[in-house]
Amino acid sequence: MKPESQVKETHYVDLEDIWVAYDHKWVLQSVYFSCGAGEIVGIVGPNGGGKSTLLKVILGLVRPDRGTVRLFGEKPGKRGLQEVGYLPQISQAERFFPVSALDVVLMGLYARIGFFRRPDQKDRETAMEVLNRVGMADHAGRPFGALSGGQQQRVHIARALAPHPRLLVLDEPATGVDSVAQEDFYRLLAELRDAEGLSVLMVSHDIGVITAHADRIACLNVEIHYHGEAQACMIPENIARVFGRDLKVMVHDSRCATCFRRHSHE
Ligand SMILES: Nc1ncnc2c1ncn2[C@@H]1O[C@H](COP(=O)(O)OP(=O)(O)OP(=O)(O)O)[C@@H](O)[C@H]1O
Ligand SMILES: [Mg+2]
Repeated sequence: MKPESQVKETHYVDLEDIWVAYDHKWVLQSVYFSCGAGEIVGIVGPNGGGKSTLLKVILGLVRPDRGTVRLFGEKPGKRGLQEVGYLPQISQAERFFPVSALDVVLMGLYARIGFFRRPDQKDRETAMEVLNRVGMADHAGRPFGALSGGQQQRVHIARALAPHPRLLVLDEPATGVDSVAQEDFYRLLAELRDAEGLSVLMVSHDIGVITAHADRIACLNVEIHYHGEAQACMIPENIARVFGRDLKVMVHDSRCATCFRRHSHE
């Protein structure tokens, strides 16, 4: 095991003792979190547990009341963010955005090309290249709203990948996507990690799916209850601590794919 100081040098993301409050209520309390180079880290936890807030802290969109944020070893700033592809939690309304799939991907390049310059041929080529990579090149000219949920998700991933980031930050990327498309998607992430050393930070509600595809997991419910190897997250005590007692946990295959749901009467 490397000394802590050496491990830290390879971290793309480092949070130390992060505290965030909204309306005088703590949403994050003393959160320590890290993501290394070439690592897929999953973040799981109940609704309102602070997952999206944690991602926004990493991206500098929410300023913590206390604590230190390091993105590529520095305070989150313009330079660091150009190397991050961010997929925000998608609302239903955005799914009906009246633009083409190609336009959605080009939006991912605005941080680089600026809002007021029209994308040129090279930007279009870059956008087509990433659409091709996610298997959506044939749909480039179609209205985004006319695509299926899984196709829209691929286009969103292409948008996040367009600036060739070192780190992908994905908030619930699997929402509304069937299990076959999800498997393709996780395979693509693993390919990018292995081929390009891409790091991925990914929020999900599906603890079973995420433990199968992430290298490490963080279980978050205001505090971090577990941050380590994916499989150990499945220990019932860990799950009970993070999700509380309002959960039903079922282990339904040998790979420890587990699903959970809230009791309907709560
Ligand atoms: N801008 C805001 N102003 C006030 N409260 C907020 C704001 N954003 C989030 N919250 C509150 O902070 C808590 C954490 O929200 P957050 O969106 O981080 O949770 P989450 O874990 O991503 O939840 P979900 O699984 O539902 O997406 C919630 O109670 C939420 O209502
Ligand atoms: Mg969220």
